[in-house]
This record gives sequence, structure tokens and C-alpha cells, in this order.
Amino acid sequence: MSNILVVVGSGVRNGNTDQLTDSFIKGAVEAGNKVEKVNLSGYLEGCKGCGACQINHHQCVIKDTMQDIYPLFEKAEIIVLASPLYFWSISGRLKSFIDRLYAMSANDEYAHKDTVLLMTSGSNGFYAFEQAVSFYRFF
Ligand SMILES: Cc1cc2nc3c(=O)[nH]c(=O)nc-3n(C[C@H](O)[C@H](O)[C@H](O)COP(=O)(O)O)c2cc1C
Repeated sequence: MSNILVVVGSGVRNGNTDQLTDSFIKGAVEAGNKVEKVNLSGYLEGCKGCGACQINHHQCVIKDTMQDIYPLFEKAEIIVLASPLYFWSISGRLKSFIDRLYAMSANDEYAHKDTVLLMTSGSNGFYAFEQAVSFYRFF
């Protein structure tokens, strides 16, 4: 059994990405995992790059929805990133979430966790997810 955090980077409740995510969660729960789901549809700013988190005990100065997500991220063993394909990449919401994880890093080192990427798109071209997957591999 693992603690799984599912982060949905779509602003559309019950849209394609949300529904794909819920199917994943159903299977994960049936397999005995503990799952928390977070929709990034609320107020979420991008990283300011101020660096305050690096000298302030990993506390981000931006008081938005990320403050509730940091503790969930910390305790999760598996992170599931879900996003609609936006301009052949992940959504801005999901990218902001990832950038804001900088607060959890120390000397550019991050906790090692298993990850999953779930995506939906309008296109069914074989190339559709190329850039998103390339970014995800680096991440
Ligand atoms: C701003 C925007 C950009 C999009 N860019 C692409 C794209 O580059 N390629 C693509 O195949 N679909 C694109 N789409 C379609 C969405 O990826 C697709 O409809 C997705 O399933 C929507 O998921 P949702 O229901 O969770 O919002 C775009 C949609 C929006 C709103």
C-alpha cells in the first residue's frame, strides 16, 4: 500500500482530465492504496523566484492553495500529475505547481518519489504528447 497524491492541473471540474484521473484513482484504491486528490482549480500563483524558501525553512511566502498541498506532497510516496495538453505541453496550472515545489528543495535536491503522468488532448496525433513527455522525463 502506498500514499498517493494526485494533482489535477485542469480548471475544468469533471472534464476529460478529471474523469481520467478518477478512473485511475478508482483502480488505485481498489488495489489498496491511500489516495488524496487535489484540483489546481483554485487560486495558485507562479513561483516568484525570490529564494525566500531557501533561507526560511522551506516556507513559501505566497499564501495560496499551495500551502495546503505542501504537507500532502511531503507525506506522499507517489505523485500523480494529471493535465490537459495545452499548446503541446502541460497546463500552466500544473507547471506552476511544479515550480512551487522549489520550496521543498535543498541545494537543488528534491525528495525522490515515484511519479505518474496522466494527460488528455484534443489531438490523436502520435506526436501530441512528445514535448510533455520530454519535460516529464527531466522532471
Ligand atoms: C488553452 C487550450 C490549449 C489546448 N491545446 C491543445 C494542444 O496543443 N493540442 C491538443 O491536442 N489539444 C489541445 N487542447 C485540447 C485539450 O487538451 C483537451 O480538450 C483536453 O482533453 C481538455 O481537458 P479538460 O476537460 O480537463 O479541460 C487545448 C485546450 C485548451 C483549452
